[in-house]
Amino acid sequence: MVKLNSHFFKLRGGYFFAEIERRIALFQGQSSSRGSLFNLGIGDLVEPLPPSLLTALVGACEEMGRRESFRGYGPAEGYLFLREKIAAHEYANCSVSPDEIFISDGAQSDMAHFQELFDGTNRIAVLDPTYPAYVDANVMAGRTGNWGKEGKYEGITYLACTEENQFQPTPPSCPLDLIYLCCPNNPTGVSFERAKLEAWVEYAKRHGALLLIDGAYSSFVTGDGMPRTIYEIPGAKEVAVEFRTFSKSAGFTGLRCSYTVVPKEIFLEGRSLRELWKRRQETKFNGVAYPIQRAAEALFSPAGKQETGARIASYLQGTRCIRERLLSSGLSAFGGFDAPYVWCKAPEGMGSWDFFDFLLQKHQIISVPGSGFGKGGEGFIRFSGFVGPATIEGAMSKINATACYR
Ligand SMILES: Cc1ncc(COP(=O)(O)O)c(C=O)c1O
Repeated sequence: MVKLNSHFFKLRGGYFFAEIERRIALFQGQSSSRGSLFNLGIGDLVEPLPPSLLTALVGACEEMGRRESFRGYGPAEGYLFLREKIAAHEYANCSVSPDEIFISDGAQSDMAHFQELFDGTNRIAVLDPTYPAYVDANVMAGRTGNWGKEGKYEGITYLACTEENQFQPTPPSCPLDLIYLCCPNNPTGVSFERAKLEAWVEYAKRHGALLLIDGAYSSFVTGDGMPRTIYEIPGAKEVAVEFRTFSKSAGFTGLRCSYTVVPKEIFLEGRSLRELWKRRQETKFNGVAYPIQRAAEALFSPAGKQETGARIASYLQGTRCIRERLLSSGLSAFGGFDAPYVWCKAPEGMGSWDFFDFLLQKHQIISVPGSGFGKGGEGFIRFSGFVGPATIEGAMSKINATACYR
């Protein structure tokens, strides 16, 4: 008789976005303001594809339609033309070579799959709050215990991101093996400063640990002196794998293209991690479509860079506007400088869902309750800057008198 993977039964949180939808539908059903909501909750993009990307995409599709330029299966690790561009433009001063870069169809899938390379006894750590995919993938693989009463999985170390540590936890004194760092972090919108990343690299070397860096928002890091990649930190190539995506920087959430850097320097138990990942990809993945990789390549042309740069600047302008209005209204707001998210503290006495309901009912603003990203997100909500200036201005014009939030 077929037996299911019972670790799946331990999963939590599938109800979270459904619950947001349920509350919105309930509110719309009860109120006369149907259709006039300000949705600052979404992490997806609203802008269409940049023109240079679209031209490359269409051109590559046409190539596929001609016998002489048709391409079938590509290399599992991605075409060299794209890997070379990434190495040259994204890692110019970090000596990452094209053969350490693996093109894929999403940072989420790569991060979720990467745990397959490791034994089940490794000690795992995640930021709290953070993007939920890393935890869930490890739960499905049976690498955690059950969901405990305190709202956490047994067997995972949660690294609390708090106001006190500026949402950048430092390494603990206990030994850990696999450490997921979302940098910049979704949902807090805060990226790790150089000294904090140096401490993590030093920790990983001392304990023989591996850092798994989710750099999905790395192109949003624009602050002075802020590292855009872990490989700016000396020694990081021996202890860190970095996952990046074109999703948020260039509108690829629907097209799907990302990359993972597995440095040649990483050897575990005498084996090359890069070789293991290559082997895994050759067996379980047949590469990303050629036109999609050509479209990604176009992002590194002068026009592509200008177009994506302008988009990122405009999204960050939106998050700054959100942040400033929240602060001037007497609320506490964090992040938003190096990431497209603003992390807002609920007024005294309110939990994440209370504040979500309050904003929905009083101002018709949709946010995301921080508690959906882990226990450490309780008491906060997340606003997204991806939603376009009109929505942001409309929503922020509603957030006004300090008295509302007391
Ligand atoms: C932190 C983080 N990592 C990864 C992803 C997903 O990236 P991709 O679209 O490349 O799968 C997201 C999407 O919201 C994200 O917020």
